[in-house]
Amino acid sequence: MKTKILKALMESDTEFVSGQSLCGMLGVTRQAVWKNITQLKEAGFEIESVTNKGYRLVKTPDKLYAPYIESMLKSECVCDSVQCFETIDSTNIKAKQLAEAGEKEGSLIVADKQTAGRGRRGRSWDSKSGTGIFMSLILRPDIPPVNVSGITLVAAMAIARAIENVCVIKAQIKWPNDIVLGKKKICGILTEMSSEMNYVHYAVVGIGINVNNEKFDEKIEDTATSIYLETGVRVDRDRLAAEIMNCFDVYYRRFIESKGLEPLVEEYNSMLANLDKEVKVLFGLAEDYDEDKAKCGIARGIDKDGALIVETKLETLHVVSGEVSVRGLYGYV
Ligand code: BTN
Repeated sequence: MKTKILKALMESDTEFVSGQSLCGMLGVTRQAVWKNITQLKEAGFEIESVTNKGYRLVKTPDKLYAPYIESMLKSECVCDSVQCFETIDSTNIKAKQLAEAGEKEGSLIVADKQTAGRGRRGRSWDSKSGTGIFMSLILRPDIPPVNVSGITLVAAMAIARAIENVCVIKAQIKWPNDIVLGKKKICGILTEMSSEMNYVHYAVVGIGINVNNEKFDEKIEDTATSIYLETGVRVDRDRLAAEIMNCFDVYYRRFIESKGLEPLVEEYNSMLANLDKEVKVLFGLAEDYDEDKAKCGIARGIDKDGALIVETKLETLHVVSGEVSVRGLYGYV
């Protein structure tokens, strides 16, 4: 009910919404509306109530709050329910546990703080409270397991587009799925799945975004930044989380319909920070790559399988993520 109340209050903007119309809309008593409004106030929402006029939303709190995120999801969005936690080990772990227990596609697990946030390649993910968005979406795609890695690229597109819509700054993708502002990383994606040979039980898309961080630990400050540090403007994290889901919905539907990335390649490439730039392809895992085997070339965008096309002097490579990392010749991007 709180989701619907918030939606009605936001839609009426600065106008009051009468208690009576809320009762009619929700099919509940005035007392039930009042009780939920009281709970929203307790959660930090500033709601003005005036006799004979009704309710008006004045201010939203700086906290991740499931009904607030849900109230901003478009109808029929693939993400249709949200669970928020103040502290959790990892939203990916929680999402996988829920998916194992039968949770439906479209459930989003969000946390303000993670105590065991996980990054790719066994790294940890810095997940302090009050600044970032840590969230994992449960999906049950009817596609072959080999195609699931494409969902990570779909999510990267959604994040870049949503940042542009909400924060009015152009974010780019560092292949395959880091989101960067300028030359530093603001977001990482970790997709995990449970599958059989030809069948995907579920996939979990985990997204970590540096939103309102004011500083970073010394060991990552050269490569990490936040939206706040790049724009000087604090972002409503709930709004950004909802917009990412709304954008994800658009790209994900196209991906599932065509069972691949083909219809998205052009738009993905338009968001690619590496496009037509010199890159170094490092073969091997993590920091264990073999410098002698590294190859330099110009990145020409992704192919329909999501591989990065790199033209070297001798050959055209189709670089598949997982086995390699790609770095700019003059820094991280
Ligand atoms: C990367 O290494 O770039 C991927 C980082 C992914 C971090 C997110 S935060 C939400 C979700 N839960 C996790 O434990 N990891 C992902």
